Amino acid sequence: MKILLTGGAGFIGSHTLIELDKAGHEAVVLDNLYNSSPLALKRAAEIIGKEVPFYQVDIRDREGLTKVFEAHQFDACIHFAGLKAVGESVEKPLEYYENNLNGTFVLLDVMRKHGCKNIIFSSSATVYGDPEIIPITEECPKGICTNPYGKTKSMLEDVLIDVQKADPEWNVVVLRYFNPIGAHPSGKLGDNPNGIPNNLMPYITQVAVGKRKELGVFGADYDTHDGTGVRDYIHVVDLGRAHVASLKAIEQKKGVAIYNIGTGTGYSVLDVVKAFVRVNGVDVPYVIKPRRSGDVAVNYCNPAKAKMELGWEAQYGIEDMCRDSWNWQKQNPNGFEE
Ligand code: NAD
Ligand code: WQD
Repeated sequence: MKILLTGGAGFIGSHTLIELDKAGHEAVVLDNLYNSSPLALKRAAEIIGKEVPFYQVDIRDREGLTKVFEAHQFDACIHFAGLKAVGESVEKPLEYYENNLNGTFVLLDVMRKHGCKNIIFSSSATVYGDPEIIPITEECPKGICTNPYGKTKSMLEDVLIDVQKADPEWNVVVLRYFNPIGAHPSGKLGDNPNGIPNNLMPYITQVAVGKRKELGVFGADYDTHDGTGVRDYIHVVDLGRAHVASLKAIEQKKGVAIYNIGTGTGYSVLDVVKAFVRVNGVDVPYVIKPRRSGDVAVNYCNPAKAKMELGWEAQYGIEDMCRDSWNWQKQNPNGFEE
C-alpha cells in the first residue's frame, strides 16, 4: 500500500517507516520538522537502502497538503503529527489545541477530497486517565485527562469516530500507545527530545551518558510493589510493527477499530532503572523526589485484542528496550546533531 506518514520524521514515525518498507509498503513522509530533524530521515534511508520521499509541510497548510495529495494516490494515512509534551501543553493550551485539533481537521478534509478515507491515528494510554480497570482493556471507559495534550487525543478519537459514522467509507484505526521507549537496534535512530527530557527513558540515558547528574524518581509512596509508578513500556520497533499490522484492519474494512498497544506487563520506575544498569553495565544515580502532578500509580494494558484481530504482539522485552535505548544514546550523545 502507499501510505502517507504525517509526522514521519519523529521518533515513532521514523521507526514505523522502516517497518512499512520491510513489509513491502511504500511510505511518503510529511513533517514540518518542528520537533524532528531531517537527519532522522537520512538515517532511515541508510537503514532501508533507499531515499524516502519527504515533504516539509505543516498539516495546517491546506494548500501544501493538497499538493502532496495531488502528487500521490495514497491508500492510507498514518497520522503521527502532533505536539506531545504533557507539561508544555499545560503552559500553552491554545498552541496544543490549535496544532493537534486544527491540523487534524485540515488533514481529514484534504484526505476526503482526494478519496483517501483510511487513517491510523496515534492515540495514547493517557485517554484512560486514572484507569478503572487494570490491566486496561479497550472496554475500559475513557477517563478525565489532566492536561490539554491528553484532551486533544481524546477529542480527536471522538472526531474520527463521528467522521466514520457520517461516512462509512472511512476506516479509522485508533492505536492507544502505552509508553514507547527503545530505539532502532542499529543505534542510528532513537528518541531525541529537546532540552530536559520529560519522559523516563531519555532521562535515564542522559544520566548514563553523563549529560545529567541524577534521575529524579517522582514518588516512592505509590501503592505498587516498590512504591514507584508502574507503566507498560513498549519497544518502538514493536510499535512500528503494530502500524503495519493495523493495515489489516483497513483491508478488512472494519470501520472503527481501537487497540491498546503495549506489552501487557507493568514495570516500576525502579524496575526500569535496575534493568538498565544490569543490561548495560552503567551507573544511573537517582534520588527520590515528590510525586509529579497528574501521574497515576499504575497503567498497563491487556493487549489481547490487537493479538486476536491484527495478529500483532510485542516481541521485545524490557531488557531489549534498555539495551537499544542505551545503544542509541551512547552512539549519539547529542541526538541528531552531527
Ligand atoms: P515526535 O514529536 O517525535 O513526532 C511528531 C512529529 O510530528 C514531529 O516530527 C513533529 O515535527 C511533527 N509535527 C508536529 N506538528 C506538526 C504539524 N502541524 N505539521 C506537520 N508535522 C508536525 O513524537 P512521537 O513520540 O514520534 O509521537 C508521534 C505521535 O504519537 C504523536 O501524535 C504523539 O502524540 C503520539 N504518542 C506518542 C507517545 C510517546 O510517548 N512518544 C505516546 C502516545 C502517543
Ligand atoms: C513514566 C514513569 C513517572 C521521568 C507520558 C505521557 C503519556 C504518553 C507517554 C504521549 C512515571 C516516572 C518520569 C522522570 C520519573 N505520551 N518518571 N522521573 O507519564 O507514563 O506517560 O508519556 O502520549 O501521555 O503522559 O511517561 O516516561 O513521563 O513517566 O520518575 O524524570 O516514570 O513519574 O511513573 P508517562 P513518563
